Amino acid sequence: MFRIAPSILSADFARLGEEVRAVIGAGADWIHFDVMDNHYVPNLTIGPGVAQAIKPHCVRADGTEVPLDVHLMVQPVDALAMAFAEAGADVISFHPDASTHVDRTLQLIKSRGCQAGLVFNPAAPLDVLEWTIDRIDLILIMSVNPGFGGQSFIESALRKAEIARRLIDGSGRDIRLEVDGGIKADNIRRVADAGADTFVAGSAIFGKPDYKAVIDAMRDELSGSRQQMAAA
Ligand code: DX5
Ligand code: ZN
Repeated sequence: MFRIAPSILSADFARLGEEVRAVIGAGADWIHFDVMDNHYVPNLTIGPGVAQAIKPHCVRADGTEVPLDVHLMVQPVDALAMAFAEAGADVISFHPDASTHVDRTLQLIKSRGCQAGLVFNPAAPLDVLEWTIDRIDLILIMSVNPGFGGQSFIESALRKAEIARRLIDGSGRDIRLEVDGGIKADNIRRVADAGADTFVAGSAIFGKPDYKAVIDAMRDELSGSRQQMAAA
């Protein structure tokens, strides 16, 4: 039920395919792909060409595919969302405040066979969910301001995750609740206890030499979470 999604923002960009394979070998469930446009956020990263190049590496030793989780921090959204769908993205999420017509953007993403997610910045309200929860597959709560890896976790994200969890449960739909920014082995259990089931971690994993040791430590923490206890 829990998914760990290493963010390749903190990987060695000169060896990206190798890094993706290494982190999958270490137990990654999803590959989180941060797209920044130097306009919506003050940084510039990687585009659809890079997604297409790493897609063949998103596979486990047993041949099963690892979802490519594209987090768009771009404005406008639609054309790039389509380009990433074409490049092989499995999940595409965007910030509702970056799209003029949120419903249209969701429809576009779904029409290409991808899962669609909405992302909420630390100061963003969740009110758009009232009108979109029946058509989304993922809610992503930012626990840092988007733009850079390696920032500190913003505590108010826990309360926001709790609210999002109640909305998801009330909807009765199968929607993932992902949290992104400043997650490490020493705070991941609190994030799970707030209701999250999918955890992005960049610097915590790629900043250490042994990716498996970090992912194992995160899973150990998750096995003691309230959600895990309730499911057992
Ligand atoms: C921030 C990105 C995150 C980032 C997380 O804008 O959306 O995915 O890579 O990095 P850490 O885990 O280092 O905070
Ligand atoms: Zn991200």
